[in-house]
Amino acid sequence: MYRKGRKSEFYTELAKKQNYPARSVYKLKEIDKKYKIFKNGHRVLDLGSAPGSWLLYISEKIGNSGLVVGVDTEEIKIPLKNNIVFIKKSVFDLEKQDIKGKVFDIVVSDMAPKTTGVAFVDAGKSLELVEKAFELVKLFLKPGGSFVCKIFDSSSTADFFVKLEKHFDFSKRFRPKAVMKQSKELYIIGAGLKKL
Ligand SMILES: C[S@@+](CC[C@H](N)C(=O)[O-])C[C@H]1O[C@@H](n2cnc3c(N)ncnc32)[C@H](O)[C@@H]1O
Repeated sequence: MYRKGRKSEFYTELAKKQNYPARSVYKLKEIDKKYKIFKNGHRVLDLGSAPGSWLLYISEKIGNSGLVVGVDTEEIKIPLKNNIVFIKKSVFDLEKQDIKGKVFDIVVSDMAPKTTGVAFVDAGKSLELVEKAFELVKLFLKPGGSFVCKIFDSSSTADFFVKLEKHFDFSKRFRPKAVMKQSKELYIIGAGLKKL
């Protein structure tokens, strides 16, 4: 049944069955299973959150005492549960008052640029997004907190990783099974933010 693009179809069908608006949720589930990121009561900032499958998963994991704030230029396609807040904005326009003095236990970024098909251009745009996410980490993540971000892997990944790992007790590059074979996507996990 799933011949061409088998993995993509498998996860797309699974997402439909499980009522998630995107198959990207299975990448986060795998990361969470391996690195135990989310706990009940956590406050989470989700950058690039549309259409909302990570938001839904995180909302389930953190429960009613937690809070997840999503940010995206696009609309989300999920019902806003009590523990979800959504800000429709580019991360480049995000201001401190949008977040109203909140600090977070976790920051995640699944942001991706609109791709051109030219690998080095797309990787450059992805790097800009992940650099911005890291700036926001420095503003909003609690000491001891964790950061999960997507980057399109390129010759710049190593430099970004070196910069990031200085700020965390533990850091790792991880490629979930749910990522397509031909995709350049790679996830970086930083846990235990050191005091800045
Ligand atoms: C792969 S999708 C995220 C999927 C999401 N994690 C989910 O599970 O539903 C990447 C998202 O990054 C968002 N994005 C790209 N540039 C952005 C920016 N400057 N500010 C906020 N979001 C951005 C896109 O609009 C897109 O919705």
